[in-house]
Amino acid sequence: MRTDHAFVDAVPPRRATPRRGALLRAATVAAVAALALGAAGCDVRLNEFRIKMYDQAKYEPYEKSELFANQAAARPFPEGTVARGHLAADRPYYTGTLSSGDFVPRIPLPPAQATGSEPASEVAVETMTSPAAADPDAWQPQPMTAEFIARGQQRFNIFCSPCHGRLGDGNGMIVQRGYKRPMSYHQARLRNMPDGYFFDVMSRGFGQMPSYASQVPVADRWAIVAYVRALQLSQNARLAELPAEVQRVADDALAAADDNSDQEPSDQEPRDGE
Ligand code: HEC
Repeated sequence: MRTDHAFVDAVPPRRATPRRGALLRAATVAAVAALALGAAGCDVRLNEFRIKMYDQAKYEPYEKSELFANQAAARPFPEGTVARGHLAADRPYYTGTLSSGDFVPRIPLPPAQATGSEPASEVAVETMTSPAAADPDAWQPQPMTAEFIARGQQRFNIFCSPCHGRLGDGNGMIVQRGYKRPMSYHQARLRNMPDGYFFDVMSRGFGQMPSYASQVPVADRWAIVAYVRALQLSQNARLAELPAEVQRVADDALAAADDNSDQEPSDQEPRDGE
């Protein structure tokens, strides 16, 4: 075991005059130490500010306040306050209904487009005055575009087809596994319902079907209506109402089917019911 004495002996004797290198090293150590100290000082002050921000005078949720008559620190919204993105002033567009309670017959234009102005931003859409201000029931039909219907198809296949089936016949996978079977979209009653009705069913639910308002935004709900209409047409179109080109294709297909089977070609009224 080493004694203190032996340890002291092991330390090399100091030089009478330090070398240049040693001097430099000492200077560097001093500089680094000064920097470290400075940084530590900074850190202490930052923490202090953070704590001060955390502890500043403020009300916690539901805290009592002596300032207000009802002693609630949480103040009610001033009347007429609208959360950003929730103005929904355009009744036909946002509810699918008119103030009479009737359903809007056709898919309405979104409010921003109905006024003819291009929305500059999301905020513009929310804050602009809609024609609803003048007439709460004013609406204009939305022109159909392939893009709009395609969006509806995509959303329908995601949100509706699990129950209603991709054809809208009510034979979705969940139904095949035991969920209540919805009625087919191709029955006459639903074919004759106004567009607003489908929007309403999606927004508020129907019988055993839950509301899809929280999952499918308003614009997408209308796009789905457009696609449901397309589905209905796909199962109940009258030949004479189709574009000439499509009629020719259908005629050829019918003739081919006629050749291949001994059954009468069906020129009856479109099927009703499920
Ligand atoms: C979880 C299954 C399920 C999903 C998903 C679903 N539905 Fe339904 N839907 C039903 C059932 C079940 C009914 C019948 C309700 C009843 O009679 O209780 C129904 C009924 C309907 C009706 C008929 C209302 C009437 O007057 O007969 C429409 C229209 C409809 N759904 C549209 C949609 C659309 C559009 C979507 C997609 C956004 C959708 N549903 C998603 C289960 C579903």
